[in-house]
Amino acid sequence: MIELAASILAADFAHLADEVALVERGGATLLHVDIMDGHFVPNITFGPPVVQALRPITKLPLDCHLMVENPDDFIQAFAEAGADMMSVHQEVCRHLHRTLQHIVQHGMLPAVVINPATPVDMLVEVLPMLHHVLVMSVNPGFGGQKFLPLALDKIAHLVELRDEMGLNFRIEVDGGVAHDTVAQVVEAGADMLVAGSAIFSKGKTEQNAVEFLKLARAAGSVQVA
Ligand code: DX5
Ligand code: ZN
Repeated sequence: MIELAASILAADFAHLADEVALVERGGATLLHVDIMDGHFVPNITFGPPVVQALRPITKLPLDCHLMVENPDDFIQAFAEAGADMMSVHQEVCRHLHRTLQHIVQHGMLPAVVINPATPVDMLVEVLPMLHHVLVMSVNPGFGGQKFLPLALDKIAHLVELRDEMGLNFRIEVDGGVAHDTVAQVVEAGADMLVAGSAIFSKGKTEQNAVEFLKLARAAGSVQVA
């Protein structure tokens, strides 16, 4: 199943509940919440209170992407705030296996994110633990950046590993995924598509989501045939 994880980083924060309702109407099936700490990435965004505020206003699962140093320190707070999925960066987790265990113990679906410079092979040992792998197709920290095509080979490599290892984790892609790039990421094998600036746009948000999903699903059905 191909899913749109709408990234609220690009939403109008003064009207967040309305923005969420629009993407939900447009067919988004996940809300992607980018948590940035100003250390791991050069930007600051939301903390657990924003996740807590989102929880009662939508039925969509909250897909929390932690771009923070020491993610272990925040697992409990985000779980209590209502996060459903939690992805942590391989680059900041010295004890990645333990961190993933903590995420599961707190009732969330675990995922690992890899930056453009991080090889997929860094994840082989933990792949059996994961709900999904998040492949960054930009360097994290900002919305609206240009898609890096090197992500396509990484997605394809993950598909191969998944087959070889007999696993069923999902593959998410994040950064520069828009109407003109979505077909190639779906053809490469991604099925959880994060998009922010391609979706949120005054007066056009719902339609952007509908059209994005149409393009993604068309590329997906070509792949199956
Ligand atoms: C970037 C974030 C992304 C961001 C994507 O660090 O992880 O989720 O919102 O934004 P777009 O879709 O505009 O590239
Ligand atoms: Zn993200």
